[in-house]
Amino acid sequence: MQALYTQLSFELRRFDAQEKQIKSLFIGGGTPSTVTAELYKPIFELLKPYLQDDAEITTEANPNSATKEWLEGMKSLGVNRVSFGVQSFDSNKLKALNRAHTPQQAKDAIIYAKKIGFKHLSLDLIYNYQGDTQKLLLNDIEEAFSLPIDHISAYELTIEDGTKFSTTPQVRQEDENLAFFVADEIKKRGFTHYEISNFGTYQSRHNKGYWELEDYIGAGAGAVGFLKDSRYYPQTNIESYITNPLNITEEPLSKDELLTEKIFLGLRSSIGVQKSLLSEKMIEKAQILCEEKKFRCDDTHYYNDNFFLSDELALYILG
Ligand SMILES: C[S@@+](CC[C@H](N)C(=O)[O-])C[C@H]1O[C@@H](n2cnc3c(N)ncnc32)[C@H](O)[C@@H]1O
Repeated sequence: MQALYTQLSFELRRFDAQEKQIKSLFIGGGTPSTVTAELYKPIFELLKPYLQDDAEITTEANPNSATKEWLEGMKSLGVNRVSFGVQSFDSNKLKALNRAHTPQQAKDAIIYAKKIGFKHLSLDLIYNYQGDTQKLLLNDIEEAFSLPIDHISAYELTIEDGTKFSTTPQVRQEDENLAFFVADEIKKRGFTHYEISNFGTYQSRHNKGYWELEDYIGAGAGAVGFLKDSRYYPQTNIESYITNPLNITEEPLSKDELLTEKIFLGLRSSIGVQKSLLSEKMIEKAQILCEEKKFRCDDTHYYNDNFFLSDELALYILG
């Protein structure tokens, strides 16, 4: 935690953070619920002056380590949103995904979090793991909606280098109909689809700030920060990070790279793309998509309502 504290103190200066400026704080990556709540106290004391009074403060939680004591401890620190890494309510799938918790543990943790008064509760589901069927995913969604949540993130399984599944990529199932099925079933139950993987009666500030390319501090081994037009990468190796948390690599982004990101992220979410950012040629193409009802347009923005088509549409605009 000392390394994190050191880097955060440095970043608050780099960002010239002002009092009550920070609107969201996200504790995630790795498994925050394996760290006792007490150990986060110095971090919260450091950040408190900079947090807005109604800041969204999220922690990720793994159901098998999100004990009652831990949840109570994080609540007392000011956390008001918990995102549970449930992934599925199917025991066999959880084992296959190498998740240590049981469906019952997930339900108990979420119900207890509600009981002690967390304002916002979210859970994550993963789909298109080999063997996934509409029946299995429908059960996951029905179980999810039987719980006191206001947000779901439904992620299509991706195979990332250096991770557990990188040696067995066939575990990823190629069934795009499942993506539409999952989205339709979640929307049918009253959650707004506000980004390709995110749904809710509540829309997470942390997530939206990221998609709007707002400035954010990324602290911790493997974290990523963004300030003005540059990304900042602390070391990914935890020992090296602890030894020197201020060894941070800066990656300046060109105007084109920033525009490309804004177009991809804007079309993958309800944020849309600002017209004033686009070249004449891009505007011409976007106007065609408006006429073809593939885009929704107002005076200032173009919006895409079919997030699963977002990458193709972005490539067309950029092409
Ligand atoms: C992205 S964060 C969750 C943020 C949270 N949904 C929120 O709204 O605050 C971590 C989640 O990523 C998802 N994830 C992790 N590895 C993944 C993979 N290889 N493919 C797809 N999703 C993955 C898991 O659902 C995990 O709980």
